[in-house]
Amino acid sequence: MLDDPLPYTQEQVLDTLLPETLVASEESVEVFAPANIALCKYWGKRNDEIHLPNTSSLSISLGKVGTWTRISPSPEGFDELIFNGTHVGLDTPLAHRIFRFVDYFRRKQIIPLVIETRNDLPTAAGLATSASGFAALVKALNEYFALTMSPEQLSICARIGSGSASRSIYDGFVRWNRGTQDDGMDSFAEPIAVDTDYWQQLRIGVVIVDSNEKHLSSREGMFQTVESSILYDAWSMQVTRDLEEIEEALASNDFTRLGQATEHNALSMHATMLSAWPPVMYWQPKTLEIMQRVWELRREGIELYFTIDAGANVKLLFLAQDEPVICEKFDQIELLRPFS
Ligand code: PMV
Repeated sequence: MLDDPLPYTQEQVLDTLLPETLVASEESVEVFAPANIALCKYWGKRNDEIHLPNTSSLSISLGKVGTWTRISPSPEGFDELIFNGTHVGLDTPLAHRIFRFVDYFRRKQIIPLVIETRNDLPTAAGLATSASGFAALVKALNEYFALTMSPEQLSICARIGSGSASRSIYDGFVRWNRGTQDDGMDSFAEPIAVDTDYWQQLRIGVVIVDSNEKHLSSREGMFQTVESSILYDAWSMQVTRDLEEIEEALASNDFTRLGQATEHNALSMHATMLSAWPPVMYWQPKTLEIMQRVWELRREGIELYFTIDAGANVKLLFLAQDEPVICEKFDQIELLRPFS
């Protein structure tokens, strides 16, 4: 029997997307990429090295909330990383992760760079920044080396940095297609056309429960779930249903349907995590308290739904008309308008 072929590596995939030699800019470039929140989640990979998901997913980008990244030629002749205004040592895990990725793009040429990156997020928003961070880095590298990559190629490169970054290449609602190829060339995100006159009423409220680093990375949490949860196959079926439901809700301007499918999807993902061994549990008592408050307000007739990622914070979904009442009921809410 033949052994399974070795999975593709990051380097192999980027090799096929990048030219042999590069022309570096003599000027700085600066770009922005939005953060995103998944309405139908990605949880589990079929290739951990190049981040190929087991299922497709769908998200909303957060407008002006995200990451700014500037790349400049180094006047000193060595690499530098400035993160949120502070110089970061090149021997830190963050610098390693960023420059390892940048090295793929430098194609073994010696091109010292100054990379400045800042997250334009509300204080302690508890929003994943690796998605907007890698999307911004890829967009900046594309401009700096005049690569003229297509949005699909940018999305593939961002995915290699961090899975959900594939969706942060675009604004608005975005679908990341699972793809079927082993090299992941068909696993990229695409924007979903919607009636923005209707959807610009959408509001996201982030309720902070804990702004500390999570105890278990999404990578480890996914691995643990896929390996040990007997519910994982059911989760994949749920995703197929929810994607269809959310896409129909978007096409028919139906916020209620969107909210219901989003909340159902998040709870199904967390139920699957809980059935892993060792169990994967990101909630804290306050997370549950907020969920119960949402259900209580819904019983009172307010159209309010939630979603939760690999952390304790809760993201609320509602319409502009309910902004005053929601802000009053949740005092520590960070209000976001994805379409403005
Ligand atoms: O891309 P990662 O490794 O940060 O994983 C993202 C996982 C979730 O946020 C829970 C879901 C998603 O689709 O964004």
